[in-house]
Amino acid sequence: ATNYENILVETRDNVALVTLNRPKALNALSSSLFHELNDALKKVDGDAAIGAIVLTGSERAFAAGADIKEMRESNYIDNYKSNFLGHWTFITSVRKPVIAAVNGFALGGGCELAMMCDIIYAGEKAVFGQPEIKLGTIPGAGGTQRLVKAVGKSKAMEMVLTGSFNLNAHEAERAGLVSKVFAPEVLVDEAVKTASKIASLSQPMVQMAKEAMNQSFEQSLANGLLFERRLFHSTFGTHDQREGMLAFVEKRKAKFNHN
Ligand code: CAA
Repeated sequence: ATNYENILVETRDNVALVTLNRPKALNALSSSLFHELNDALKKVDGDAAIGAIVLTGSERAFAAGADIKEMRESNYIDNYKSNFLGHWTFITSVRKPVIAAVNGFALGGGCELAMMCDIIYAGEKAVFGQPEIKLGTIPGAGGTQRLVKAVGKSKAMEMVLTGSFNLNAHEAERAGLVSKVFAPEVLVDEAVKTASKIASLSQPMVQMAKEAMNQSFEQSLANGLLFERRLFHSTFGTHDQREGMLAFVEKRKAKFNHN
């Protein structure tokens, strides 16, 4: 296993569990943390034994945002030339499903990182917010885009424009940002359980379904429906479709081989 300084990576059967581990800075998302995260994600995405990924932090913080101390002296032209935060988007190109298990603070870039995942589970003490405006800047990794789609315009506007209107776990669940809320101590296990259920299904089908759903954020309905239908057609060229439907008829559990 690779030795990382800011994250921990372990596998639980066919699930990879990635834990942000920079406790002194409440998992502030420094450049080196993100490079390690991207490296780990790339490896587990390419590992045929892994079917789904869980991303978590600590009970106190999922992540308290971009590293303010690291970025505060950077200037416009350096940000432009290095395409600052551009490397944060790698996680959105991961093909396997990623579940964010959010305990504690998910602020600024932390909330944005959670929203780049496919499913968000929250621990009861989770706090979601976009405080960038209070630092004299604005969200830079999807907070003005994904949050609107996740919680609707009014709540997103209030969160981003005041910087201090946060959502707790249950509010986030009611708003649709989060799909389930758990006691903090069982959150990660519950996320792993769901990830492992997903990983037991046909991996290409899971990835096609994810790919098709993500198109709903990018395309007109007509184009998205066409994209979906073409992928649906293509599933009939697979072993796993044959097996899945035969198993139903034979009243037994399907044995997918991911082909
Ligand atoms: N960057 C760098 N360091 C951070 C940090 C951050 N985002 N968040 C917390 N830390 C550090 C603190 O500086 C502190 O370090 P020291 O012990 O060396 O002083 C340590 O983590 C513990 O934090 P606090 O003492 O502040 O803990 P608290 O419990 O009193 O407060 C908190 C917790 C409310 C989350 C508070 O730390 C906070 O407001 N953090 C900043 C949140 C924020 O503004 N995030 C947005 C960042 S900008 C961004 O993300 C841009 C983008 O869109 C990509």
